[in-house]
Amino acid sequence: MTEAVHYIIGASGQLGTELALSLQMRGERVVLSDVRRPEHADLQVLPFEMLDVRDRQALDVALEKAGATKVYLLAAALSARGEGDPEWAWDLNMRGLLNVLEHAAASEVVDQIFWPSSIAVFGPETPAVAPQKGERKPTTVYGISKNAGEQWCAWYRAHRGVDVRSVRFPGLIGHRSVPGGGTTDYAVDIFIEANATGAYTCFLSEHQRLPMLYMDDAVDSIHELMAAPAADLTVETSYNIHGMDFTPGELAQAIAERVEGFTIVYKPDFREAIAASWPDALADADARKDWGWAPKVGMDELVKIMLEAKKMALSET
Ligand code: SER
Repeated sequence: MTEAVHYIIGASGQLGTELALSLQMRGERVVLSDVRRPEHADLQVLPFEMLDVRDRQALDVALEKAGATKVYLLAAALSARGEGDPEWAWDLNMRGLLNVLEHAAASEVVDQIFWPSSIAVFGPETPAVAPQKGERKPTTVYGISKNAGEQWCAWYRAHRGVDVRSVRFPGLIGHRSVPGGGTTDYAVDIFIEANATGAYTCFLSEHQRLPMLYMDDAVDSIHELMAAPAADLTVETSYNIHGMDFTPGELAQAIAERVEGFTIVYKPDFREAIAASWPDALADADARKDWGWAPKVGMDELVKIMLEAKKMALSET
């Protein structure tokens, strides 16, 4: 068997940075690509190339040159930014995915793809605890693209033999990279501000509950799902996974218990309606059964870790 070459598209983003660090720690061969250079100091030693995933020819050349066997497509326009530029968001999210799936279908070298879906595939009619199977009626550009992407992945799996694996991520919270353009970003911003100024102005309302996941658990879910025997995977689309759920008010309370004098004010903007359209939590029994999904970090532990991580990147991406 040839040695795996992990190729990350969108490696300079919030999740890409963390996945790259994790693969690097594991001693894996990894190649990074993005439309901007990675910021994290530890990633400067890894091979990197500028790549716009919408450019099919450039993508083919890059993946072939690298000898990529496992491709992680993490470049995407998220929910809040997508609403401001629907055509750009649809084009990036869909063209990028189709390019990668087409490449994989034709390639004898690429053997696996990872592509993240999202809680955004659900809509206002979804029950508070989103079931694995059931109707999905997303109301954001991002959610529409993820929903269509899930079906494209299922199609390429069924008709072109592409081994593409996927989970529906909730909001991801970590301290080695910053998010950009999402609705769940408040749950990272709040820690940066708690550490820097002791005060935060929240763009969601106090009681807006959302599902969330600590970054290390998110990265582990990728490794675990990619390592699972294909025969064990029974979900045709993307797996629901759940870590924890809380409201901005509950998170602020937990921070205030550790940061003396911490204050929060609520100034909900257009992102409130996006958050309101998403479920509170995800039913993840299938992921637990099929590939052993079991998150390790709950809310108390998360708050502790995030407040201790003083070196959190402060730049907006
Ligand atoms: N974190 C994403 C967003 O807020 C949801 O998948 O857009």
